Amino acid sequence: MRHFLTLKDFSKEEILAMIDLAVQIKKEAKKKIYEPFLKDQVLGMIFEKSSTRTRVSFEVGIHQLGGKGIFLSSNDLQLGRGEPMKDTARVISRMVDMVMIRTFAQSKLEEFARYSKVPVISGLSDSYHPVQLMADYLTIKEYGKEKDLVVAYIGDGNNMAHSWLMLASKLGFELRIATPKGYEVDAAILADAQAFAAQSGAKIIIGNDPKSACENASVITTDTWISMGQESEKEQRIKDFEGFMVDATLMALAKRGAMFLHCLPAYRNYEVSEEVFEAHSEEIFCEAENRLHAQKGVMVWLDRQKD
Ligand code: CP
Ligand code: NVA
Repeated sequence: MRHFLTLKDFSKEEILAMIDLAVQIKKEAKKKIYEPFLKDQVLGMIFEKSSTRTRVSFEVGIHQLGGKGIFLSSNDLQLGRGEPMKDTARVISRMVDMVMIRTFAQSKLEEFARYSKVPVISGLSDSYHPVQLMADYLTIKEYGKEKDLVVAYIGDGNNMAHSWLMLASKLGFELRIATPKGYEVDAAILADAQAFAAQSGAKIIIGNDPKSACENASVITTDTWISMGQESEKEQRIKDFEGFMVDATLMALAKRGAMFLHCLPAYRNYEVSEEVFEAHSEEIFCEAENRLHAQKGVMVWLDRQKD
């Protein structure tokens, strides 16, 4: 049995196999063919943070696979009143076939998985957002940009930046991350990525200059400057991130026809200008839709690994 808590645990071949499954599932879904790969299975969906895309895409996804999703908010669960994660895991995993969790510390996900009888999928933690990266890569592939891929990530060294590090270092493409000073990626995660990059041939460039990161990039991406849980730092962060908005000037440095991706929700005229966002809205909302297809690929793949 495998869990999907971070891309760190997967080989290039495994990641691409899940993407291939997603491509196949999406193609059929466009013809309204929904193969019941997970017939009668139940996905427990535990949320300790807000969500639009993750909730809807997992709930619709499991439904289209022939199963059912149950939404479990920590506000309603005993988890929210202090029942330990490990007890929650031992109860819920006896009743459902797969679990998705959105939480704060990555260690909470790991604790749940350690005590779970069924596969556990991360729906985001403070450290990573791996299902988002599956959707992002599926979108890059659909736009035919996966060859000679150079991704520039501009902004906070957060869960999205960490997930890009894992994807790039596993698949072997070039990733440039530009953050303001003091908002760099986690050193341990970077060290892991560099070790994987040494094997895959990925090029990882870390810096504080958005302009040099964007030069000739084929994909530019960013994320909110204020992640869930950081609301009290808002004012300070807005000051510290000055000069890091992806605007037309930064986009003009990229390769001709470069994509702009954003995991959403987007805060216009903070991390991305209104102009860039609207000019690339087709790509961005295709990326959002691909959450549905990519996660179906992940769920079917995990189900096939069960003992
Ligand atoms: N991108 C993403 O995970 O969106 P939600 O927070 O709406 O789920
Ligand atoms: N970095 C953001 C991603 C939201 C999908 C957050 O953690 O809030």
